[in-house]
Amino acid sequence: MSNIQPWKVAEKRGKKENRVPPFAPSENEQEFYKKYLKSVSEDKELPKSALILGATPEVRDAAIELGAESTAVDISREMMDKFSSLMEYNGHSLDKQIVNNWLEMDFPESYFGIVIGDASFNNLTSKKHNLQLLEICSRIIAKQGFLILRQVIYPKENKGYNDVLKLVKDFRNKKIGWRDFYIELRFNIFRDKVYDEETFQYDGKKNYELIEELYNKNIINEKEQALVNRFRNDVTNTFYPEEEFIKMIEEQGFKQLEDFHDKPYKFFDYLFMMVFQKK
Ligand SMILES: C[S@@+](CC[C@H](N)C(=O)[O-])C[C@H]1O[C@@H](n2cnc3c(N)ncnc32)[C@H](O)[C@@H]1O
Repeated sequence: MSNIQPWKVAEKRGKKENRVPPFAPSENEQEFYKKYLKSVSEDKELPKSALILGATPEVRDAAIELGAESTAVDISREMMDKFSSLMEYNGHSLDKQIVNNWLEMDFPESYFGIVIGDASFNNLTSKKHNLQLLEICSRIIAKQGFLILRQVIYPKENKGYNDVLKLVKDFRNKKIGWRDFYIELRFNIFRDKVYDEETFQYDGKKNYELIEELYNKNIINEKEQALVNRFRNDVTNTFYPEEEFIKMIEEQGFKQLEDFHDKPYKFFDYLFMMVFQKK
């Protein structure tokens, strides 16, 4: 298994109509990002510079709108180009675009007032890489600066579905929408089969094979399988238990300030935002 995973769904992800939750931050989540971007741009002690781990267009636009330099770092040239083309401020003098591995970033110490990771840490394949990226963040974020993340974190109690038949039934009865149906199948329902509680690795490839099996057994129909396969990406993710994640970050010189779970989808229970401040 390669340690670095290229993102192969740029074509689909980079379409304007697909800039919806869960793929993109919701309106309220964007407001949450903006709240901290605004604090940075108004605080005379903090550098007016934001690092975006990835190419997320909405947050890059928000940073520039507030007068901060936005540096986006993504390993995929295609993702960078597709996402940049969705921006209002693409090519603005404050819009910096760097194609690189996050683990190889080399910025001066305390250069950034804020680092934003929109579903970024989840795409690292191991605990070692999570820690490595965090150490980099800790070095390049100025004192009192922020680290904000939106990603899958597993709370102590599994707040998702445990029973696939119930999930399909609720979806067909319109008790839940396509977003929750997708997220449950993608990140939760097969947790006991594809998630390693020791390494926190979630085997996305195996997960999609199990979804295929559901289709072969007529548990989901063609349309339902197509819905989940639309964004298929056979990567290995790392999903931390909430307490472990907070502990790891706080041990690197941060303090957790707050978290934010949007409504109304069920998946916001475990795909949510967290903000930390550098001590
Ligand atoms: C799930 S996407 C993030 C979703 C995105 N924030 C959005 O708004 O749609 C993951 C992104 O991280 C990038 N990526 C994954 N691993 C990386 C690494 N080690 N270094 C740099 N970029 C990486 C991928 O190329 C991809 O663009």
